[in-house]
Amino acid sequence: MIKLPKKTVVNSSHGKLILVGEHSVVYGKPAIALPFPLVKVKANVELINDTIIIKSRYYVGPLNKIPEKMEGIAVCIKETLKRLEKPVTGLLINLESTIPLGRGLGSSAAVAIAVVRSLFAYFDRELSKEELMELAHLAETYAHGNPSGIDTAAASNDGPIWFQKDNQIESLQIGASFNLIVADTGRIGNTHAAVASIKDKFKSDSKATQQLINQLGEVSEQTREALSNGSVKSLGKLLNSAHDQLTKLGVSDDGLNKLVRTARNAGALGAKLTGGGRGGCIIALVRNLEEAQSVADALINDGARKTWYFTLE
Ligand code: PMV
Repeated sequence: MIKLPKKTVVNSSHGKLILVGEHSVVYGKPAIALPFPLVKVKANVELINDTIIIKSRYYVGPLNKIPEKMEGIAVCIKETLKRLEKPVTGLLINLESTIPLGRGLGSSAAVAIAVVRSLFAYFDRELSKEELMELAHLAETYAHGNPSGIDTAAASNDGPIWFQKDNQIESLQIGASFNLIVADTGRIGNTHAAVASIKDKFKSDSKATQQLINQLGEVSEQTREALSNGSVKSLGKLLNSAHDQLTKLGVSDDGLNKLVRTARNAGALGAKLTGGGRGGCIIALVRNLEEAQSVADALINDGARKTWYFTLE
């Protein structure tokens, strides 16, 4: 056997949260997304005497036998190697993730970003932000069908962003600390189906659907102001309003509505689903750490699989 020089490169990416604007962002309205560094993906690239081998929570084996649900990442790896003018062979790509899959926390975007970063670093090549987003977007296209690009943008930025399709991503100013709780229903959402259902709704009732999309766009505009003014109470009301509109669009479900109600009843200033919906997570705004603890306890008592608490500053 040929002895290979040892070379290992590791790179990572964090999860993301959509504060407001999911779904309406697909129709050109602005959205606000936050980095969610409490969950992460690490991609380790190592030289091996073989084909490309993928090691992950869901699959261990050669790249060309990857299961369909991970096909997006396979496309992203092949396209990245093509861009680097390297053969699709001789690498072990080990993925370690703490991001639960399909919960609207940006798992697929974060995996793609970590892999692209690691492959570029492994071959000692500079990676521009544009190239990173372009390559990671390929994996997202497989995962979501016709993604707006918000997941890739949020997972590759370290601060809150203002995102609107075909526009420059803007960094947002935050005027105060906002205490947020994320709770996982424990159920995998289906962003693809939720996005498709809104498309169908447009066909059956275009006026009402457009109105809800417009209202969500306005909520994003007002949320930007609330964040910059440090207005915690306004932000709470805006989160509630976004959840109502998303419910009317048909992308919430009983489990999400239950956790949203629980959070509000336990004292949260506002709560809504986050991400594609129909499973996945909710996000709730609380005043302080003490309130966070009681809201988190109530959420766990009412069936949440897990909660995370963080401060947006
Ligand atoms: O990946 P998710 O479930 O967080 O959803 C992404 C946000 C959507 O607006 C629902 C879809 C999109 O491509 O923007």
